[in-house]
Amino acid sequence: MKFSRRDFLRCLPAASAALSHTAHAALQTASQQQLLEVSPNGIHLEQVTLTYENLPDDLEGYRFSFISDIHLGGWLKDEIVEDALLLAKRHGSRALFLGGDLIWVPDNHAGLSDSLNNKKYAHGTDEELGELVFHELARMIRPHQFQDGVFAVLGNHDRWSNYDAFRILGRESQTQFLLNETATISVGNATIELFGSEDLWSGIPQKPSFTEHKNIFRILLTHNPDCASFVFHRTRNNFELALCGHTHGGQVKLPLLGALAYNITDTRYGEGLVDYGTTKFYTSRGVGWVELPIRWNCPPEVTIFTLSKHR
Ligand SMILES: [Fe+2]
Repeated sequence: MKFSRRDFLRCLPAASAALSHTAHAALQTASQQQLLEVSPNGIHLEQVTLTYENLPDDLEGYRFSFISDIHLGGWLKDEIVEDALLLAKRHGSRALFLGGDLIWVPDNHAGLSDSLNNKKYAHGTDEELGELVFHELARMIRPHQFQDGVFAVLGNHDRWSNYDAFRILGRESQTQFLLNETATISVGNATIELFGSEDLWSGIPQKPSFTEHKNIFRILLTHNPDCASFVFHRTRNNFELALCGHTHGGQVKLPLLGALAYNITDTRYGEGLVDYGTTKFYTSRGVGWVELPIRWNCPPEVTIFTLSKHR
């Protein structure tokens, strides 16, 4: 079954209205956030324990990392990406998931060349810069060996500047792209089933196909939280965790009022953890920026998740 972007957008308001306030009151709680570490460049390492009563025994304590919205190419310095990858390797993380929008080639990058932080990406056509950024990302990811692998989905910006350049990263690093595809990670007698969807704005996401079995933990990895929201609220597809990015947490958050705006329809999933018990959603604030290199009260993040049966 395929969903077009139009299908998603048409159905989302109805899905939103149908939900109770009780469900979305279960927002990110302090008890689920553990110690915070901060890189020299200000990236916050968020450590989040996700508890599931029915977690397969062999996944108790399993750790994996999530980085989204790197947006390398113009504003972001390479060293910030290297910092993010170092954070992701901490605490025995066994896998790295990348949530898309790995690159960003600014419109009019030649005109911006004097002000761009990373002049390496100031000159060239969109196509050339798209390829260069993915070569550089591959160079940075390659030294980091994650025991269970590196898996990625695409975001809208990955295809907008150079449709196929992401394949460079797959060829030159151990990154496995999931384009409406499933990867499995075996952990003892348990299996993590990871479905990575195409992006809602730049591709055609498909409904995940998950296996029903008590020893399987199912993760939906998709760039845009509207995609995960649609799958869950419209089809009740059964997965334990959705990992998303795209919003950058709003980039600018006012005290008490929160984010000025989110670029999604279902704004309950603007940032952080939304917990429905057996299904949880997590939206990362991401690492980089688009348009303007501004973050205020909304620090970049790398996330390490720990799975547990116990609160
Ligand atoms: Fe993004």
